[in-house]
Amino acid sequence: MFSKPRKNKFVKSYGSWGLVTGASSGIGKEISHCWASLGIHLVLTGRNVRALKALSTTLEETYGIHTDLIVADLSNIGDIEMLIHSLGDLPVGIFVGSAGFGTSGPFTKSNLGDELEMLQVNTIALMMLTHHFARRFSQLGKGGIVLLSSIVGFQGVPNATNYAATKAYVQALGEGLYHELKPYGVDVVTAAPGPVESGFAHRANMKMKNALRPEDVAWPILKALGKRAVVFPGTLTKILILGLRTVPRWGKIKIMQKVMSGMTQHQPA
Ligand SMILES: NC(=O)c1ccc[n+]([C@@H]2O[C@H](COP(=O)([O-])OP(=O)(O)OC[C@H]3O[C@@H](n4cnc5c(N)ncnc54)[C@H](OP(=O)(O)O)[C@@H]3O)[C@@H](O)[C@H]2O)c1
Repeated sequence: MFSKPRKNKFVKSYGSWGLVTGASSGIGKEISHCWASLGIHLVLTGRNVRALKALSTTLEETYGIHTDLIVADLSNIGDIEMLIHSLGDLPVGIFVGSAGFGTSGPFTKSNLGDELEMLQVNTIALMMLTHHFARRFSQLGKGGIVLLSSIVGFQGVPNATNYAATKAYVQALGEGLYHELKPYGVDVVTAAPGPVESGFAHRANMKMKNALRPEDVAWPILKALGKRAVVFPGTLTKILILGLRTVPRWGKIKIMQKVMSGMTQHQPA
C-alpha cells in the first residue's frame, strides 16, 4: 500500500515498534495488519486472549514481524499502569489508541456502571497512554500517535449521548496535541470514522445498515499520520461529513438524533 521510499520514511520517523490498543478486533486489528505489512513489530493489547494470540500468529507468519501480547483491561487503572510498565525499554515509536466502545439508548435508562466503564476506556485510559507516549516521544524527538474519535464527536448525539461526549473528548485531545507536539517532531492524527462493521455495533446495541469495513478505514488513517491533524477515513465518512458541513450545530444534533433513533434498538428518549 506504500511505496518503498514512503515505507522507509515511516520506519525512520517512527522506529521499528508500535503499540496498538483494541488490537483484538475491528479497526485496531486492521491497523495492526497495516503496520505489520510495513515491517513494524507490534505490541498487541486487549482483553480477548484468544483473538490476540490468533492475530499474533497471523502477523508473525504473514509479515515476519515480532509481536508481544499484553492482556489488559483498560477500564482498570492498575492494568493501564501495568501495560505501561510492561513495555520496559521496548523502543515503541507508534501508539494507536483504538480500544473503545459505545452505549446507546436513553441516558436515564442507561446503566451507570457501563457508562463509567466507557468513560474509563474511551477517555481516561486513552489520556494516560497518550500522556506516557507524548512525553516519551517528545524527548526522543520523533514518534506517531493515532487516536480513534468518531463523526459523533462533533456535536451532541441524543440516544448515544455519553458515547458522543467521550469521542468529543478524544477529538479535542488529538487536535490540541497535534499542534503541541509538532515542534518536538511528534505526529498526531485523530481519525473520525463514520459507521464501521466490527464488534462495535453489537456491544453498543446498535443496528448499522450502511457501514464501512475496517479495511476501508485503516490505510487512510495511517496515510494521514504526519500529514493532517484530522482524517475522515472512507468514502461514506466523507459523504456524511460533507453533507453536514453547512448545517449549524443545532441542526446536526437534530439530524444525529434521527439517525441514532433508527440505529438504536431501544425506544428513543
Ligand atoms: N465501528 C464504528 O462504527 C466506529 C465508528 C467510529 C469510531 N469508532 C471507534 O473505533 C475504535 C475501535 O472500534 P471498533 O469498531 O474496532 O470496535 P470493536 O471491533 O468492538 O473493537 C473494540 C476494541 O476495543 C477493545 N476494548 C473494549 N473494551 C476494552 C477494555 N475494557 N479494555 C481493553 N480493551 C478494550 C476490544 O478488545 P477486547 O474485547 O479484547 O478487550 C476491541 O479490540 C473505538 O474507539 C470506537 O469508538 C468505531
